Amino acid sequence: MTLFQGTFFSFFVITIITLSQIPTSCADDEHYLKCSSPFQCANLKNLSYPFWGFGRTPYCGHPAFNLQCTGEVATLTLMSETYRVLEVNDSDHRFKLVRTDYWNNICPTILRNITVDGTFLDYGSDTQNLTFYYDCPSFPQSDSVFPWFNCSVNGTQMINYFVTESMLESSEPGEIMGACKSRVVVPILESEAKLLEKNSTVENLKAVLDNGFDAEWDANNSLCDKCQHSGGYCGYNPSSSEFVCYCRDESSPSTCKNSGE
Ligand SMILES: *[C@@H]1O[C@H](CO)[C@@H](O)[C@H](O)[C@H]1NC(C)=O
Ligand SMILES: *[C@@H]1O[C@H](CO)[C@@H](O)[C@H](O)[C@H]1NC(C)=O
Ligand SMILES: *[C@@H]1O[C@H](CO)[C@@H](O)[C@H](O)[C@H]1NC(C)=O
Ligand SMILES: *[C@@H]1O[C@H](CO)[C@@H](O)[C@H](O)[C@H]1NC(C)=O
Ligand SMILES: *[C@@H]1O[C@H](CO)[C@@H](O)[C@H](O)[C@H]1NC(C)=O
Ligand SMILES: *[C@@H]1O[C@H](CO)[C@@H](O)[C@H](O)[C@H]1NC(C)=O
Ligand SMILES: *[C@@H]1O[C@H](CO)[C@@H](O)[C@H](O)[C@H]1NC(C)=O
Ligand SMILES: *[C@@H]1O[C@H](CO)[C@@H](O)[C@H](O)[C@H]1NC(C)=O
Repeated sequence: MTLFQGTFFSFFVITIITLSQIPTSCADDEHYLKCSSPFQCANLKNLSYPFWGFGRTPYCGHPAFNLQCTGEVATLTLMSETYRVLEVNDSDHRFKLVRTDYWNNICPTILRNITVDGTFLDYGSDTQNLTFYYDCPSFPQSDSVFPWFNCSVNGTQMINYFVTESMLESSEPGEIMGACKSRVVVPILESEAKLLEKNSTVENLKAVLDNGFDAEWDANNSLCDKCQHSGGYCGYNPSSSEFVCYCRDESSPSTCKNSGE
């Protein structure tokens, strides 16, 4: 074969191979193709259902899981509560979240509890509650059994305490804590609570809060697992507001008939 014939032959072979693949990809459902590739939001890579937003089309996700992506920060607003999303694990539907008002901040202007009502979100197993006691009557701090810190909110200095679950078990909060004006319960990681018990500095408190808490999302998880096992990609039908499984050549309410393998 001459060089020309060789080149031509390679070209011919490549053309045949390419052409032979076109018919299957042409038949692929547009939704299937769009949702098959993972996407990125801020520091989070390789994202897929139930997340969408930031250019990811809504039908590839669950309506409640619209991510906001700004620079290195991914946030999610669920049932009117805004969280920073630190990590996502698809295989067990768990992620790490931080309340945005407690991100790098132990003195929020508005002192409030959040409600995790289980509609889209549940606490994961590696979670425990940290209790803040704000605006406590001042008294000699050396008498305090619990770690304390200062806050200056609305121009007022406040003395505050923080208590993990096991700190509460070993000593009663007592009447001084009962005289504090507000109490806020913030979820943290169980493992981090142990660190905080050993070394209760304000720096460690901030670090523990910034490491977030363990949560499990609920976005038709079992339907999605079945869909994925049958070779499909999960999504939502925006018009009917129902879960849908995108298969290679069609959409299905649950699983794909032909896994395509
Ligand atoms: C991305 O996610 C998919 C499915 O969730 C997983 O199979 C794959 O290993 C992940 N890839 C990377 C690079 O993490
Ligand atoms: C994700 O969850 C699975 C199952 O619980 C676990 O085996 C895996 O280590 C987790 N991945 C990460 C990155 O934490
Ligand atoms: C600070 O002021 C705001 C607005 O008046 C109020 O809603 C909030 O509760 C105040 N915070 C504290 C800790 O007193
Ligand atoms: C937060 O919840 C705790 C315990 O559930 C409660 O004692 C406290 O009053 C609540 N705080 C606010 C600001 O609602
Ligand atoms: C933390 O407190 C909330 C209510 O304030 C409660 O629903 C939740 O079960 C608690 N979590 C743990 C791990 O005790
Ligand atoms: C708390 O505030 C007081 C008075 O402003 C100040 O003297 C003290 O150093 C502060 N303590 C901490 C731990 O910030
Ligand atoms: C406690 O944590 C602080 C940082 O906040 C660190 O500087 C200090 O060495 C730690 N102390 C112990 C006993 O681990
Ligand atoms: C999907 O989840 C929604 C909300 O959690 C629920 O109302 C709906 O019944 C679920 N769909 C199916 C088919 O299970």
